[in-house]
Amino acid sequence: GTTLGQAAAEKGRYYGAAVGTYKFNDTTYMNLVNREFNSLVAENEMKWDATEPQQGRFTYTNGDRIVSHALSRGMTVRGHTLLWHAQQPDWAKNMSGSALRNAAINHVTQVATHFRGQIYAWDVVNEAFADGGSGGRRDSNLQRTGNDWIEAAFRAARAADPNAKLCYNDYNTDGINAKSTGIYNMVRDFKSRGVPIDCVGFQSHLGSSVPGDYQANLQRFADLGVDVQITELDILQANANAYAAVTRACLAVSRCTGITVWGVRDCDSWRGGDNALLFDCSGNKKAAYNAVLDTLNGG
Ligand code: G3I
Repeated sequence: GTTLGQAAAEKGRYYGAAVGTYKFNDTTYMNLVNREFNSLVAENEMKWDATEPQQGRFTYTNGDRIVSHALSRGMTVRGHTLLWHAQQPDWAKNMSGSALRNAAINHVTQVATHFRGQIYAWDVVNEAFADGGSGGRRDSNLQRTGNDWIEAAFRAARAADPNAKLCYNDYNTDGINAKSTGIYNMVRDFKSRGVPIDCVGFQSHLGSSVPGDYQANLQRFADLGVDVQITELDILQANANAYAAVTRACLAVSRCTGITVWGVRDCDSWRGGDNALLFDCSGNKKAAYNAVLDTLNGG
């Protein structure tokens, strides 16, 4: 393949990017998006604050723009994200208990229903586990509605869009550690009790190296019977060896269905001066780009 998307497709996978509609009139940006990627995710446009700014009043304009751009070009779409402790609208931040639980599940149902049939995989729940060694849940207004909030969200998402793959997504889960093991135990429990979960997303916001057990960690989740995806990849100074290692790991795990980078050019990145992406600010390919493409092509 001569582009990331084409080379990934030849390996039965996708190569995607997070995009923002506020850059859709930037031709350098859009040319890269259209040329290189065969999957898109909204960097912000499908989050709770964006889609339900007032309770019960839904705004899908920007999310729809991303979906129609992708689908009209044969790209798939990842949905990000139905429930998260961050980027909640103010009205939700101020709620608790059964009122918040009902509002959250209604949000899942409404948004997943709106995009029904258009989403390859939804990040149903994002970042619900705590950092550090506890392996437990993160405290949040959602968690305080009861430990079963995650499975309730997955069941509501399945009912609303039965054909979307339903993912749990998190960061600092890229190697085998207490946090990833806590998630592993949740996924194993969900599978044993028939809670609908199809995939786990590994954000992979990385320093300049990749954990030595990165592939083994993906594989242990795959062995539970879920797909795995690299969902928000960016690497400090775009270390080419690290980008190649992530690519190799995904290709080596048959249930790793694709990779998404969290932005297009370095200047589009939430990581500012980290130069963490595959294209420089002028849109030129970086060494990391060539490392990824060569690895996808089997080099
Ligand atoms: O939309 C407002 C705009 O109206 C306002 O003028 C402007 C002023 O700062 O802010 C705009 O909102 C910003 C939004 O990005 C859109 O640009 C928010 O302040 C800013 O906080 C938000 O940051 C996003 C962040 O999630 C929010 O937590 C980043 O773009 C986005 O890259 C980042 O993505 C997250 C994933 O969703 C989950 N995993 C981690 C990842 C990186 O933090």
